[in-house]
Amino acid sequence: MSLIKSFSLLNLSSTMTALDLSGASLQGNFPDEIFRLPNLQALYLYGNSKLTGYLPNSNWSSPLRKLYLSSTNFTGKIPDSIGNLLLLEIVHIEGCSFTGSIPTSIGNLTRATEIVFASNRLTGHLPHHVSGLSYLTTLDLSGNSLQGRVPSWLFTLPSLVSIDLSNNMLNGPIDSFQSPNSLQEVRLQKNEIHGTIPNSIFQLVNLTYLDLTSNNLSGTVKFDMFSKLQSLQYLYLSNNSLLSFTSSSYLDIKYSVPSLQELNLSNCNVNQFPRFLRNSGKLTSLDLSNGRIHGRISKHDSEGWKNLIDLHLSNNFLTHVELHPWQEIKILDLQNNKIQGSILVPPPSTQVFLVSNNKLSGQIPPSICSLSSLQYLSLSHNNLSGTIPSCLGNFSTELIILDLKNNSLEGHIHDTFANASSLRSLDLNSNKLEGPLPRSLANCSVLQVVNVGNNMISDTFPSLQINDLSHNEFTGFLPRTIFVSMEAMKNVEEMEFGPQYIGGFYYKDSVTVAMKGRDVLLYKILIIFRAMDFSSNRFNGEIPEVLGNFKSLKVLNLSHNGLTVTCSNDGLPKAPPSASTDHEEDETTSWFDWKVAKLGFASGVVIGLSIGYILLSIGRPRWLVKMVERDQQKKVRRRRPRDRM
Ligand SMILES: *[C@@H]1O[C@H](CO)[C@@H](O)[C@H](O)[C@H]1NC(C)=O
Ligand SMILES: *[C@@H]1O[C@H](CO)[C@@H](O)[C@H](O)[C@H]1NC(C)=O
Ligand SMILES: *[C@@H]1O[C@H](CO)[C@@H](O)[C@H](O)[C@H]1NC(C)=O
Ligand SMILES: *[C@@H]1O[C@H](CO)[C@@H](O)[C@H](O)[C@H]1NC(C)=O
Ligand SMILES: *[C@@H]1O[C@H](CO)[C@@H](O)[C@H](O)[C@H]1NC(C)=O
Ligand SMILES: *[C@@H]1O[C@H](CO)[C@@H](O)[C@H](O)[C@H]1NC(C)=O
Ligand SMILES: *[C@@H]1O[C@H](CO)[C@@H](O)[C@H](O)[C@H]1NC(C)=O
Ligand SMILES: *[C@@H]1O[C@H](CO)[C@@H](O)[C@H](O)[C@H]1NC(C)=O
Ligand SMILES: *[C@@H]1O[C@H](CO)[C@@H](O)[C@H](O)[C@H]1NC(C)=O
Ligand SMILES: *[C@@H]1O[C@H](CO)[C@@H](O)[C@H](O)[C@H]1NC(C)=O
Ligand SMILES: *[C@@H]1O[C@H](CO)[C@@H](O)[C@H](O)[C@H]1NC(C)=O
Ligand SMILES: *[C@@H]1O[C@H](CO)[C@@H](O)[C@H](O)[C@H]1NC(C)=O
Repeated sequence: MSLIKSFSLLNLSSTMTALDLSGASLQGNFPDEIFRLPNLQALYLYGNSKLTGYLPNSNWSSPLRKLYLSSTNFTGKIPDSIGNLLLLEIVHIEGCSFTGSIPTSIGNLTRATEIVFASNRLTGHLPHHVSGLSYLTTLDLSGNSLQGRVPSWLFTLPSLVSIDLSNNMLNGPIDSFQSPNSLQEVRLQKNEIHGTIPNSIFQLVNLTYLDLTSNNLSGTVKFDMFSKLQSLQYLYLSNNSLLSFTSSSYLDIKYSVPSLQELNLSNCNVNQFPRFLRNSGKLTSLDLSNGRIHGRISKHDSEGWKNLIDLHLSNNFLTHVELHPWQEIKILDLQNNKIQGSILVPPPSTQVFLVSNNKLSGQIPPSICSLSSLQYLSLSHNNLSGTIPSCLGNFSTELIILDLKNNSLEGHIHDTFANASSLRSLDLNSNKLEGPLPRSLANCSVLQVVNVGNNMISDTFPSLQINDLSHNEFTGFLPRTIFVSMEAMKNVEEMEFGPQYIGGFYYKDSVTVAMKGRDVLLYKILIIFRAMDFSSNRFNGEIPEVLGNFKSLKVLNLSHNGLTVTCSNDGLPKAPPSASTDHEEDETTSWFDWKVAKLGFASGVVIGLSIGYILLSIGRPRWLVKMVERDQQKKVRRRRPRDRM
């Protein structure tokens, strides 16, 4: 719509008191005369993302009470003249392109109840002193580039309920203050605030929400201080790595924060379990991960948490979590502790159960199959023994990740995966499993990672997507049709928004790939990276040329098998006639953009195809050659397995 046309009408409207053009898809430049209409009390322009304009430097409509400009493309400064709007109650200027600093004249807005300047490009300091604003309830300046201190007036303005200064560059301390107000919500996360949390914060007795996450706060906080905040429901102090906590005495058990629902003290040096949590019956989410908590969490500590939904205790030094009494629990993350003994099966509501890297022993109890909503099960890097319960393939159709790697599990893998329709990753690497791979895995349509390396599996080569089948006893030919069916490997393009990894929020797949004669652990598997590790098996056959279609296949390791490639005298694969033997940069469209690297030079049998990311991460091997012999018949010949370098 043309603004000029529509606003010519406004000549008629000097008596107009309200103008609502919100969400009207306006384009072009907004005429600032409108701000000067003598009787205008309310102006609604929000949600016109292509509407540009400036705020006037003078002669505002003096009765203006409400100004809604959010999600427009207004730019320039917020002028000092805004302080002349003595009747202004609500100003929402969020998600525009304003620059400059916050005018000190906002202190003149004695009637203002809501000031929202969030998500602009404002810089500079907050005004040092503000005495007006006595009706202000909401101040939201988040998502700008403000610097400096957190001034004390924020905590004393008499009507203020909510302040949000998150996602700025505030780097001063939080000023202490007297005469605290009735603030309920304080959001200061994601700044660079340093110094201590002033004791005066604990006088804000009406606080329900306090977020100081990801700052540079230091000093020691006594746990019992929180008990002053009897209304506190949400407390987030995580990721302040210089902060620490103490109990003032053994008696802090008598303190409590009865309203607390969520507590996040991750990555802030918690070295003992906060006893004030003992009777937190409203607690739904507790994160004490990345701390230094030793010993046990006793029955007494945890049994009061009737409503707990997620519990994050990873990366501590816990030896025992005595009880899992939480009937609502969904996420239980105990990874990277020192938990001993047999697995304590959590309640049936559990969706995520992560206990990898502990000292669990004994068998996997079949009762774990009562977790019919389970999505993530990780018991890797423990000392579990015995057989895998037969129900583990079909107890939950929701199961996404099953990770049992690096235990001492033995026996067969039961063929019960036919209904595992969500299974994306099955990792059984480094156990003592034997027998064939379960055929029902073929029905797992979203399966991306199968890792059964370092077992005693013997089978003919199955048709699966990602494979680490190394160090087993697979035999047979590598059939061309298998590779053709690996559609997923074909046109997976580099992602537009940076590298993407296989794995979700709770779990990142990792895989060990034999490269250059060494096992290299890839902690994160790029989605574009597809690894096939067929090493130390007894395959015969030719390398199917269709492999060249797999643009996302990065490593194929066929080490220790019976395959040959025609080799030149030095044991390297023969360089293609037209290709240079050196630089990645020279790469043209020869053999499907593939580099064929001879990995494990001395052993003479390790062959890999490798490009891009992996080469960057291990350094580009000099022996990289390209192969164009796509039509060459490769001889089938058996070789005695030899040790890798
Ligand atoms: C906002 O205005 C600037 C020029 O001031 C222009 O470059 C930008 O594309 C506009 N944004 C939108 C969403 O129209
Ligand atoms: C503002 O008002 C004054 C006095 O009424 C007038 O002289 C001036 O031209 C006006 N400024 C603008 C930009 O309209
Ligand atoms: C508005 O604020 C400025 C700066 O804080 C101050 O100098 C001025 O006197 C105030 N004006 C009114 C009308 O209160
Ligand atoms: C703040 O807390 C005090 C003391 O608990 C209480 O009397 C008062 O009503 C609360 N104010 C608000 C606005 O909730
Ligand atoms: C922790 O804070 C630092 C800056 O202090 C930030 O760069 C980092 O992303 C934060 N980490 C998390 C997990 O939020
Ligand atoms: C955090 O604060 C410490 C001193 O308390 C300082 O040495 C360090 O540079 C600060 N880090 C950042 C990222 O500001
Ligand atoms: C706790 O805070 C950390 C760091 O900011 C964050 O990574 C983590 O997701 C938070 N925990 C929960 C349960 O939200
Ligand atoms: C297997 O787990 C043990 C701890 O149980 C650990 O020390 C070892 O490094 C792990 N091995 C591999 C290959 O990850
Ligand atoms: C693992 O458990 C076996 C018994 O099942 C025990 O003999 C062995 O010492 C344990 N290993 C470790 C590292 O705890
Ligand atoms: C799991 O599979 C076994 C064997 O096929 C079957 O007896 C059992 O009923 C299945 N359980 C579920 C929950 O589907
Ligand atoms: C798969 O589901 C079907 C239908 O619910 C059931 O009859 C069958 O036993 C299940 N198979 C397994 C292996 O769980
Ligand atoms: C896979 O599922 C189909 C039905 O969708 C079934 O007929 C077939 O037997 C299943 N295959 C295996 C190996 O479980």
